Amino acid sequence: MVNRFNRLTSKEWLPFQKSWFKFESDTKLYSDNLRFFCKAEPSEEKVLYFGRNFDLVSSIGKELKIDVTTEDQYDGPLQFALIDLRETIQGIKDLSEYIVLRDQVISLLGKVYRHMIHRRFVCILMPNLQLENQYLPLAWDMAMQISSMYSLKDEKIGCLNLHDENQVESTRKDVFYSLYFRKDENSTGIYSPHVHNLLNSAQDKKIEPQRELTNHVPAWFILKPAPRKKNEILHPAKYPEELVLMFIEKLTDKDANILDPMSGTGSTQVASLKSGRNAYGTELSSYLPRLLPKDVPN
Ligand SMILES: C[S@@+](CC[C@H](N)C(=O)[O-])C[C@H]1O[C@@H](n2cnc3c(N)ncnc32)[C@H](O)[C@@H]1O
Repeated sequence: MVNRFNRLTSKEWLPFQKSWFKFESDTKLYSDNLRFFCKAEPSEEKVLYFGRNFDLVSSIGKELKIDVTTEDQYDGPLQFALIDLRETIQGIKDLSEYIVLRDQVISLLGKVYRHMIHRRFVCILMPNLQLENQYLPLAWDMAMQISSMYSLKDEKIGCLNLHDENQVESTRKDVFYSLYFRKDENSTGIYSPHVHNLLNSAQDKKIEPQRELTNHVPAWFILKPAPRKKNEILHPAKYPEELVLMFIEKLTDKDANILDPMSGTGSTQVASLKSGRNAYGTELSSYLPRLLPKDVPN
């Protein structure tokens, strides 16, 4: 079965249905996005690229017979906009530099709104940012701000392929968000600021150095947990306890109080109790049959 718009097979389509993806190189990242979001047959419709790799994207476009343009050159209909902020964000020294960049993106996306074809996509690639002792969730902020102009359809996490899947050493540069927006019947193209305190509170609240996440937990890794047991499969998204345990042990001390407000089957509680912490939680549904006395140490 091949999709009529981009002529991708269901196998090629699959990575785009997941909430995270691996990629080997920028070339692959760009070409996968162009292939997925652009029409298969050559057309007058262009792709707008904003970022530091125009030459690469443009040459990939040539191979795919897709015309890639920049903010200074575009004219006519746009079938896709790819905004790559990864490198620029890595060089940012404080929040005010991000706000300047954000304003630039908002202004660009406002300007091109009328040129975007109805129901076509904008992709923004960007990481959150770890400064010396602050964690700034810039991608979350950008998602909220841009969603006042275009409909936010998806957020994925992109991870640079480590080749050796057991390798845990990596830098945060290799992990970023891939935000997907669409111009559609629910969008207006008009920016209205999204007021929240994610960035302000990150500014005020310094991370204790000894608890800084990057020092303790690899940027990304692949866990190979034991298969889920029969009663665990009842929940569609049960986490392996090994995963929770890693964060609990690295980031908390014994006897700490641990709350998981979306407990599901209680993996966090089981891991907390097994590692000598106190466990608390809430859960909307009745997924807790597995949290039986046998899970809990004496
Ligand atoms: C991804 S699952 C968590 C799985 C869990 N970590 C485990 O290993 O079983 C998210 C859970 O959050 C629950 N949930 C969603 N909204 C909630 C809310 N407002 N209050 C409490 N639980 C909620 C869902 O029912 C679901 O079981």
